[in-house]
Amino acid sequence: MVRAGAELYTPNLVPGRSVYGEELRAEEGAEYRRWDPWRSKLAAYLRTPGASLDLSRVQRLLYLGAAHGTTASHLSDLLPRAELYVVEKSASAFSHLLALSRERENLLPLLADAQLPERYRADVAPIDFLYQDLAQRDQTRIFAENAAATLASGARGLLMLKVRSVTQRRSPRTVIQEARAELERAGLAPRPAVDLAPYSRDHAAIGIEG
Ligand SMILES: C[S@@+](CC[C@H](N)C(=O)[O-])C[C@H]1O[C@@H](n2cnc3c(N)ncnc32)[C@H](O)[C@@H]1O
Repeated sequence: MVRAGAELYTPNLVPGRSVYGEELRAEEGAEYRRWDPWRSKLAAYLRTPGASLDLSRVQRLLYLGAAHGTTASHLSDLLPRAELYVVEKSASAFSHLLALSRERENLLPLLADAQLPERYRADVAPIDFLYQDLAQRDQTRIFAENAAATLASGARGLLMLKVRSVTQRRSPRTVIQEARAELERAGLAPRPAVDLAPYSRDHAAIGIEG
């Protein structure tokens, strides 16, 4: 990943191709894609003070809720030799992922429900990084169950928690505290939550230590 001022870029794995209309930029013989923090919560996270992401030893990544592949495409740029299992349950979004995976061989799309990791764990485990971005009430439970089913020991992860999808009855601060406590009970080691405002209102990123 390259920073140019506040902007983030990833080295384009498929030169000449833009995935979601993002700017392409040539520099010193290489091409880079602008990583838009308004379109990708991971880019928003990386632009936030206190965020950290070490993908240096990642060989197998599981991504839950990949949608059309906007963020997954940047992970594909950053991890050209890794296997990125990208799970999506919507058939229409999955068709975009499938098309993207034809150009990007490190993307391995799975049409599946992340609530049922037993259906794909044999195909994907052991995973060394778990990334999740699903707007579901039980997001934290889904993350914990996928971690239990697929993570190698010492693996890390990042949960993009959509606070209002959990409940609107309790304050965001309480919902985040409850999510961190649930992750701890599941044997995971959550870092302090990072607020993704102004890019993604109502979202907190919770990193998991290895
Ligand atoms: C906010 S979008 C993800 C955007 C994407 N992460 C990105 O940054 O490019 C959430 C996606 O999660 C998918 N989703 C929701 N519940 C799911 C589940 N139980 N299993 C798999 N995918 C799910 C939705 O279909 C939707 O495409």
